Amino acid sequence: MKKFVKVLSSPNMKAAAQRNMDVLPQYQYQSVVIDEYLKTAMKGKKYFIRTYGCQGNLRDSEVIAGILEKIGYVLTDDVMSADIILLNTCCVRENAEKKVFGEIGSLKSLKQKNPDLIIGVCGCMVQQEHIVSTILSKYQQVDLLFGTHNIHQLPMLIQEVLTSNQRICNVLSNQGDIQEDLPSCRASSFKAWVNIMYGCNKFCTYCIVPYTRGKERSRRSIDILNEIKELKALGYKEVTLLGQNVNAYGKDIEDLTFPELLEQIALIGIERIRFTTSHPWDFSDELIDVIAKYDNIMNHIQLPVQAGDNEILRLMGRRYSREQYLTLVEKIKTKIPTASITTDIIVGFPNESEEAFNNTLSLCEIVKYDSAFTFIYSPRVGTPAAKMKDNVLMETKKQRFNKLTAVIAKYELEKYKTFENKVVKVLVEGPSKKNSEILSGYTEDMKLVNFKGDISKVGQIVNVKITKAKTFTLEGEEVDQ
Ligand code: 5AD
Ligand code: SF4
Repeated sequence: MKKFVKVLSSPNMKAAAQRNMDVLPQYQYQSVVIDEYLKTAMKGKKYFIRTYGCQGNLRDSEVIAGILEKIGYVLTDDVMSADIILLNTCCVRENAEKKVFGEIGSLKSLKQKNPDLIIGVCGCMVQQEHIVSTILSKYQQVDLLFGTHNIHQLPMLIQEVLTSNQRICNVLSNQGDIQEDLPSCRASSFKAWVNIMYGCNKFCTYCIVPYTRGKERSRRSIDILNEIKELKALGYKEVTLLGQNVNAYGKDIEDLTFPELLEQIALIGIERIRFTTSHPWDFSDELIDVIAKYDNIMNHIQLPVQAGDNEILRLMGRRYSREQYLTLVEKIKTKIPTASITTDIIVGFPNESEEAFNNTLSLCEIVKYDSAFTFIYSPRVGTPAAKMKDNVLMETKKQRFNKLTAVIAKYELEKYKTFENKVVKVLVEGPSKKNSEILSGYTEDMKLVNFKGDISKVGQIVNVKITKAKTFTLEGEEVDQ
């Protein structure tokens, strides 16, 4: 039987694109309040969350888990036995969305067997009106839709699903206040993600993120620093500062700049500090100096270039030229000779000629990236690029993609080879995925290392002598020094 849909609020991408920079972010410090009825009804019930996409989503899922546990739910990793299933989605490329629709489809039979099961879809995909209308019309098994801006309303929304016996949609287009003090269940006990800002104002023409994540807004430095002090006290070894564009931190409020914030975090003394992602456009000299000055700020810089051709960069709205990007890389390499520079590249953007693509290849030959995430351009509904004529054949895009990944792999292996016979520091994550007798972890500059070692070392930083370099991993042996 079809259930009615109760739409409390639905997304509007035009409204989501508005940026009123005169309105300062507001902060809320009260944690979520849970109704007694909900606590009693859900005590001991099981939750399952599937997360797609970036670290921002992974962090959001930790908060969602925290809220669910506060209600009384307990975690299960068996989707079949769950009482609530939440899919935290990504829409940055079409592939990500296809996977989610596949998953929603496969959950239909579970819902048929157990009509009390609550299936919810949240995250970036749901911030788009065409996705919401597709889910509501074609996927009756979905009970709840909520977005990236109202995770804190989850208890109220679950209660609404239970008491109204309707399907609930509540997706806000406007970012609203920054919610501090939400509960969270972190995925790791030794490395943590810490949001320093939300949203993006850059509006690169291909990108959906500014519409799904709202205006750039910074957390107060005091709240960030307190969170990291707490993590240090709990024994965390590594924090990764998150933002779509961390270099814009503090530009919207009267507070520290990003380099100042980074310095304050370094002084807390946590062993490893990472940050992602940096936009080349506002990567300042001060930032390079701070990274160079502190040993506990990792020398790994994720610096998305997207393309190496000036006309394509202009069409992408990236706000820098190939020459400016290369100058920045040179500056970083001069001041931080051990820097590991990685990037994101899109191939097959509208109007990408053979010559333009060759410019991207030649830029990669000059920079010699440690590694790169490479993507085929995927038009996103509502973005300016989606209105451009997509005049590069898919066949050509695939050929270019393969050429690009081969060049990236060549330099990646070259870089990995330089580690042979050297001793590196590895934060041990756990047994390797392929072989449970082997431990794996990451070096300071984000290289995956597999080595024989004692399981008791998980969560610790150990010295490993590298014996062999492969394209995407290093192999080694644990040593004392
Ligand atoms: N098509 C392909 N890749 C994209 N990215 C963002 N939007 C698109 C798109 N429409 C890539 C960019 C970005 C990374 C997170 O995803 O390279 O840096
Ligand atoms: Fe998207 Fe550009 Fe913002 Fe990155 S900087 S999230 S690519 S709009």
